[in-house]
Amino acid sequence: MSSSSSAIESVLVENRVFEPDARAREGARIAGMDAYQALCDEAAKDFEGFWARRAREQLQWTKPFTKTLDESNAPFYQWFADGELNASANCLDRHVGTPVENKTAIIFEADDGTVTHVTYKELLARVGQFANALKAQGIAKGDRVVIYMPMGVEGVVAMQACARIGATHSVVFGGFSAKALQERIIDAGAVAVITANFQLRGGKEMPLKAIVDDAVAMGGCDTLKTVLVYERTASAWNRVEGRDKTFAEVLAGQSSECAPVPVGAEHPLFILYTSGSTGKPKGVQHATGGYLLWARLSMQWSFDIRPEDVFWCTADIGWVTGHSYIVYGPLAAGVTQVVFEGVPTYPHAGRFWQMIERHKVSVFYTAPTAIRSLIKASDSDAKVHPKNWDLTSLRILGSVGEPINPEAWMWYYRNVGGERCPIVDTWWQTETGGHVINPLPGATPLVPGSCTLPLPGMQAAIVDETGHDMPNGSGGMLVIKRPWPSMIRTIWNDPERFKKSYFPEEMGGRIYLAGDGAVRDAKTGYFRITGRIDDVLNVSGHRLGTMEIESALVAKTDLVAEAAVVGRPDDLTGEAICAFVVLKRGRPTGEEAKAIANELRNWVAKEIGPIAKPKDIRFGDNLPKTRSGKIMRRLLRSIAKGEAITQDTSTLENPAILDQLAETN
Ligand code: WT7
Repeated sequence: MSSSSSAIESVLVENRVFEPDARAREGARIAGMDAYQALCDEAAKDFEGFWARRAREQLQWTKPFTKTLDESNAPFYQWFADGELNASANCLDRHVGTPVENKTAIIFEADDGTVTHVTYKELLARVGQFANALKAQGIAKGDRVVIYMPMGVEGVVAMQACARIGATHSVVFGGFSAKALQERIIDAGAVAVITANFQLRGGKEMPLKAIVDDAVAMGGCDTLKTVLVYERTASAWNRVEGRDKTFAEVLAGQSSECAPVPVGAEHPLFILYTSGSTGKPKGVQHATGGYLLWARLSMQWSFDIRPEDVFWCTADIGWVTGHSYIVYGPLAAGVTQVVFEGVPTYPHAGRFWQMIERHKVSVFYTAPTAIRSLIKASDSDAKVHPKNWDLTSLRILGSVGEPINPEAWMWYYRNVGGERCPIVDTWWQTETGGHVINPLPGATPLVPGSCTLPLPGMQAAIVDETGHDMPNGSGGMLVIKRPWPSMIRTIWNDPERFKKSYFPEEMGGRIYLAGDGAVRDAKTGYFRITGRIDDVLNVSGHRLGTMEIESALVAKTDLVAEAAVVGRPDDLTGEAICAFVVLKRGRPTGEEAKAIANELRNWVAKEIGPIAKPKDIRFGDNLPKTRSGKIMRRLLRSIAKGEAITQDTSTLENPAILDQLAETN
């Protein structure tokens, strides 16, 4: 494989192509590249027919749709709009009376290693009972419910129960701060928050309910009436009378049968907040029908899921990966899956491998950042190396959330997959709802570090600023040229921002702009993602806006005058956050600088969450600005990387500041 750009060649250390082996190919849904191409051709010839056929095959509709795609109000595309269905019925009820009914749906492994099995039938009963409990609290179709839960069966049940009654859930990752939670409760107009007293991770008990209290105490959560508390641990928590109820209290006496409420295909199944290039997170709104179609079908295509598989996606339900590949996709596909409460390094960094052996996991889906940290751990302690466990149950490996560097790819392929398991490197986003570009395990020859080719029906392309195709071998902006069923419908409360962020006028207003840079290989057309082209960072697979972190820093008004945040490459976390800060008092040095940097890190953790803590904080008397007052971020990026400044600095107001900022403290 060759690449025309030298920047690309310098990161490509592995040029071999790995063909799917016989085991992956045999019996695969899409076996071989001809089969893949045939599906792509079908979509090219009859785009709407292609999707209509899939929607009819994949989902159970209570009212069949007659119109597939409505583009009349583009870019507010609608799919299957006159059809009706229920997402929870399509994940649970559909298996009743089939062999899946008595199959294990969830193998739950708690932080302390305790294992619980829940069958599909049992899960349906638990979801039904919880749905009845929600109804008894006055929660109804169209209401928004915030879920702030640990990883566990209860979180999955809460999400499915919302879907069952047509309530729109908005899950907030358990690592987000009270402030972040408050903003989301207000923006979504949530009537209820579902939470736990504590969460258990890595042997530690961490509060959740107390953070909900802090969020509400910040004010503005006027729509919120009910807080439901799952008592995960025996530890005491503070009850707000009239508002807080335990799971046990609301579930008592509720029947486990609850008829699923049919909703229109475009009914918002969920809102999930994610970072954009401005300070305020975006509420990405997904529609029931199109989203669920793709959650189920992409499970089948990307992982070639088979009835005997044990699937394990290590994501948290607070991210889109947990929505599509824990809560909706696997259940809709009727697969057995592992749900894990804990962290990969507790009680030791071999936990993942131990769990794969214990539960005979056959399809394993995780993030490059986890792989990189486990490589590091097993380099320094041979006892946690994957070779200590029997991983022969594995059939397929997946990667998600950030580019996987070829070194990590090769290690994963050899040491985890035993050189027999294809690695499915999946490129997608919160906004895309499910996979967009990735290899098919029974078809696509693999190249380490490349997510290969778009899935059938996904019109991914690389274009210039005006929306014109770039030739293979030249980098450009990653776009999706035609709408797809699981696409974002709008930004909750902000349709203008939706149009502006994703469908730029300069490209004609109908092409989806992903926000990533990419390049296609000159010969094979394989995609390689080169990273975000906007002010969004990817730290350990977590998406964060630089402006969001800047806003958090300048909100410390007693201390901070100005702040600029950029990313720099990091071997372990992919990118690291680097903040340049001007204080209201003089520029600190030495011990004082260290102390203030720590204070600011803790402040950011409180404003957003620990994942947003800047790794580097540098203080300056001011920031490099042009004469018109614009901060020159590209210079800051060079300084953050420790590079010599080679760019033109003649437009700088204050060139001397560069040397000062380059000094580390
Ligand atoms: C951003 C989306 C994908 C769901 C979880 C993250 C980056 C994601 C890959 C990949 C290179 C990737 C992109 C994208 N990204 N997967 N396989 N290779 N980059 O969803 O939080 O919405 O983040 O993650 O930059 O835009 P998200």
